[in-house]
This record gives sequence, C-alpha cells and structure tokens, in this order.
Amino acid sequence: MKFFIDSAEVSQIAELSETGLVDGVTTNPSLIAKSGRDFKEVIKEICSIINGPVSAEVAATDKENMLREGEYLAGLAENIVIKLPMSWDGLKVCKIFQEKNIKTNLTLCFSANQALLAAKAGATYISPFIGRLDDINLDGMQLIADIRAIYNNYSFSTQILAASIRSVNHVSEAAIIGADIATIPPKILHQLVNHPLTDKGIDSFVRDWKSTGQSIL
Ligand code: G3P
Repeated sequence: MKFFIDSAEVSQIAELSETGLVDGVTTNPSLIAKSGRDFKEVIKEICSIINGPVSAEVAATDKENMLREGEYLAGLAENIVIKLPMSWDGLKVCKIFQEKNIKTNLTLCFSANQALLAAKAGATYISPFIGRLDDINLDGMQLIADIRAIYNNYSFSTQILAASIRSVNHVSEAAIIGADIATIPPKILHQLVNHPLTDKGIDSFVRDWKSTGQSIL
C-alpha cells in the first residue's frame, strides 16, 4: 500500500518525507485555505520535496475552465496530478486528460457507480471519502470493498486512493481490503507506529539492558 500525506502544510510534509515512507501528497481547496498560503507556491514547494504524485485540485466546476486550470496546474511540475470533482464535466475532462497523458484524481467519490464511471473515464486515481460516509452513518469501508471488487472484476487500472481517513483503523482496514493508496493526515500517520505494549516493552528492555552494565559499542 502506498502512503500519501493529506495536507498542504509544507513543513509537516517535509518532516514526514524524511521517514522514506511517503509516496505522494494530496491537497484540496480546504487544506490550502487552512494553510493560509498561496496555492501555486505551496504546490510547487510540495512538488520539490516529494518525488511521487502530488494532487492539486481545480477550482472551476465547468468543463472549459477545468480544462484550462488543469492544463495550467499540470505545467507547474512533472509530478502533478489533477484533482477533478465527480461530475459529468469532471469525467469529460478526465477522459481528455487521459488522452493527453495528464494524470487525474477523481475526488468526492461516495458510491461504487461513481468509481465505475471514473475508471471508464480513465482516471489515474479514484478518491472514495471514507470518513465523510461514516459521518452520516454509512459504511465508508464497505465502499472501498465494493470498488475493489468492481475494479478486480474488470481489471480496471484506476488506483483506489482511500481518502477522508480519520483513524489508524481506517488505514489498516483499507489495506486489508486492498486499497492501492491511503491518503493520511499527518496526525494519523504519526499515530500508526504507536502501541502501548511497544512503549512498555521498550521501557523494560532499556531498564534490563542498563542493569547488565554492558555496552554494544
Ligand atoms: O483530500 C480529501 C480528503 O481526504 C478529505 O478528508 O477529513 O476533509 O473528509 P476530510
């Protein structure tokens, strides 16, 4: 499973990329607004830090303007992926970008049929939003499973990018189902390594090692 960071905070992205475990980044207009910074500057900085794909979202919702914005954003760096909203216009632009070899991420996916459309339109990534479905008492993880089954049935190459991840369990459950990627907020990514028994075990090993009076080096 690939790990993307779901953030527009350049310092957090730089810090996490030092782990060597970060394969890409996703942003969205809300994350850009939260950063309080200039969209294009932030995207260029992220692209210079991260070798993998960086999703930058169009602001327009009509075909012509999405095409113009997407082409502009694709020119900012080689690793840009154009994030498009799930709509007929978004799907049309997705198909055009596929023909132009511009990578796309179809976002705001909440149903298996939307994911089927994205795959047929040649999307590079589909972003089903797990947490937002859970928020309204629907089963976000079931959507990941349904999309995995559909894509396997027809050997679609669109990659499933589990998004709107709110807990460490979302990450492991999406991995068990076989999502290709999880885009993870920095806070959750940090939490992935934690386990109270690990902390307890390290403490007791450190204590017992000291009691031997030995040193390895
Ligand atoms: O980048 C899209 C996504 O991960 C949004 O998450 O927490 O705003 O639902 P959230």
